[in-house]
Amino acid sequence: MRALLEAVLATALLLGIFQSGCSVTFEVKDDANKTCILTDFSINFTVEYKKGDKQAIASFPLPESAAVDKLSSCGKTGTEPILVITFGSNFSLSVHFNKTDTDYRVEQLVFVYNLSDANTFPEAAEKGTKQVSSNKPEISAKKNNYYQCSSPHLVRMDNVNATFHNVKLEAYFSGSNYSGNATLCKEDATPTSAPTVAPHTSTHTPTPTSAPVKPKTPDNGEYRVNASSGTLCIFAKMGLQLNITYRKNNKNVSYEFNIDPNQVKPDGNCSNDYATLRLFSKVVDLLFNFTLNTTENKFYLGHVNLSTIVPDGNETINVDSGSLSYLQTTTHKSYKCNAKQTLKITDDFSINTYNLQIQAFDIDGNKFGPAVECAEDQNGMLVPIIVGAALAGLVLIVLIAYLIGRKRSHAGYQTI
Ligand SMILES: *[C@@H]1O[C@H](CO)[C@@H](O)[C@H](O)[C@H]1NC(C)=O
Ligand SMILES: *[C@@H]1O[C@H](CO)[C@@H](O)[C@H](O)[C@H]1NC(C)=O
Ligand SMILES: *[C@@H]1O[C@H](CO)[C@@H](O)[C@H](O)[C@H]1NC(C)=O
Ligand SMILES: *[C@@H]1O[C@H](CO)[C@@H](O)[C@H](O)[C@H]1NC(C)=O
Ligand SMILES: *[C@@H]1O[C@H](CO)[C@@H](O)[C@H](O)[C@H]1NC(C)=O
Ligand SMILES: *[C@@H]1O[C@H](CO)[C@@H](O)[C@H](O)[C@H]1NC(C)=O
Ligand SMILES: *[C@@H]1O[C@H](CO)[C@@H](O)[C@H](O)[C@H]1NC(C)=O
Ligand SMILES: *[C@@H]1O[C@H](CO)[C@@H](O)[C@H](O)[C@H]1NC(C)=O
Ligand SMILES: *[C@@H]1O[C@H](CO)[C@@H](O)[C@H](O)[C@H]1NC(C)=O
Ligand SMILES: *[C@@H]1O[C@H](CO)[C@@H](O)[C@H](O)[C@H]1NC(C)=O
Repeated sequence: MRALLEAVLATALLLGIFQSGCSVTFEVKDDANKTCILTDFSINFTVEYKKGDKQAIASFPLPESAAVDKLSSCGKTGTEPILVITFGSNFSLSVHFNKTDTDYRVEQLVFVYNLSDANTFPEAAEKGTKQVSSNKPEISAKKNNYYQCSSPHLVRMDNVNATFHNVKLEAYFSGSNYSGNATLCKEDATPTSAPTVAPHTSTHTPTPTSAPVKPKTPDNGEYRVNASSGTLCIFAKMGLQLNITYRKNNKNVSYEFNIDPNQVKPDGNCSNDYATLRLFSKVVDLLFNFTLNTTENKFYLGHVNLSTIVPDGNETINVDSGSLSYLQTTTHKSYKCNAKQTLKITDDFSINTYNLQIQAFDIDGNKFGPAVECAEDQNGMLVPIIVGAALAGLVLIVLIAYLIGRKRSHAGYQTI
């Protein structure tokens, strides 16, 4: 028989001790009225969706009216506990648990939202429900501990960001309240408010998927744009890393992330004077706009636009700069820079390029024209040249010294 559940929605608690908002309590009980999941949390959701022909962001918190759904379960032998919360016009969040001998964790989060809800998603181009999910969203605790995370903890599910905060959670327990010991999330264990003695005031936030502190060198992507006539008008090979500075608790935080060539959809168009390359994904919308100076027969990157969501923010960051002149090259030639190059777009946004080669407007035979190398690459080549020259000089000196020495000793030999 299916476990009959007493799913209790407790009253929303106002947790004054924490920085913001109210947490909602959820409890799942088994047949014998024993609690197996108890949790309190707040969530801020941001959902990226299509509004007309533009991308837009809807932000909303988990409402106090959210309730435990009958699909919740303590799990029987062979199945694991699950908490299902429903709210609004058919929105739901399913929290799947799993455990080992020493720990338990949230194995998967599944979020379902309803684009037909015009209050939440005004002018949505699509209608109906959508489902997104995240595996192993880094919510775990030791056995017989409860999990605690007062700091914001971001879980990304495709185009949806769920920022949990003021979280207390325990699964697999048989008491009636939280255990005595807490396992803190890493955001709480290393509070971002702790002042550092580093000379920079900017702190670093790890990227949401527990990426290493410094992102690795980005993967190289190949991007092409055709003009409406069908001819190739932008050809680029490059690895891109974005570096965005934003304000968090009155501090500057830098967010560095790599463009994954497999995740972005390249797109763009070209006119006589402008050539644009747009790299678009669920989390980023990056536009490179090249300008052609016909009098000088040169092209350059004149304009960059970026829209993205920062890890713990709930709104899109939009950066736009139209007064640039990077990657300047004579037409029919390509610009090349293998070394890391930083293109400063604004005070708060720069792009690090790696192994870059790019050409816009006239691309003969769909191949790169002669490459104009950046100064960084030329300096890079200077070092081997200097070392080589120095070595050759050294060999020459040794040789001369040897010859002189030989002559002297020869001469000395004769006098004896
Ligand atoms: C379940 O336990 C609660 C207290 O934790 C009690 O108020 C409720 O009456 C119990 N329900 C059943 C069906 O035993
Ligand atoms: C989605 O929301 C709309 C409007 O609130 C509602 O009419 C519709 O039934 C909802 N869809 C589902 C699958 O519940
Ligand atoms: C959640 O959103 C509310 C308002 O919508 C805001 O006041 C609060 O700071 C947000 N909390 C986090 C952790 O993002
Ligand atoms: C559970 O413990 C919390 C403090 O950790 C307390 O505020 C709450 O009232 C307790 N709930 C019950 C049902 O005892
Ligand atoms: C660009 O045109 C080439 C042929 O000239 C075609 O093979 C390619 O698919 C086109 N690319 C796009 C993105 O339309
Ligand atoms: C990102 O920008 C910040 C602030 O300008 C800087 O301190 C940091 O070194 C940059 N990171 C990378 C990888 O370029
Ligand atoms: C490219 O930049 C030029 C000059 O700033 C502007 O007129 C044009 O609209 C831009 N194109 C796009 C697609 O942003
Ligand atoms: C082209 O370059 C010349 C010389 O630098 C400058 O005077 C002119 O304004 C430029 N034209 C465009 C369209 O950028
Ligand atoms: C979230 O949005 C609210 C209002 O939209 C704003 O007041 C708050 O500062 C935002 N929080 C973050 C972390 O950006
Ligand atoms: C944060 O960055 C802005 C713009 O780059 C700058 O004006 C401000 O002084 C910085 N604040 C701190 C605390 O470094």
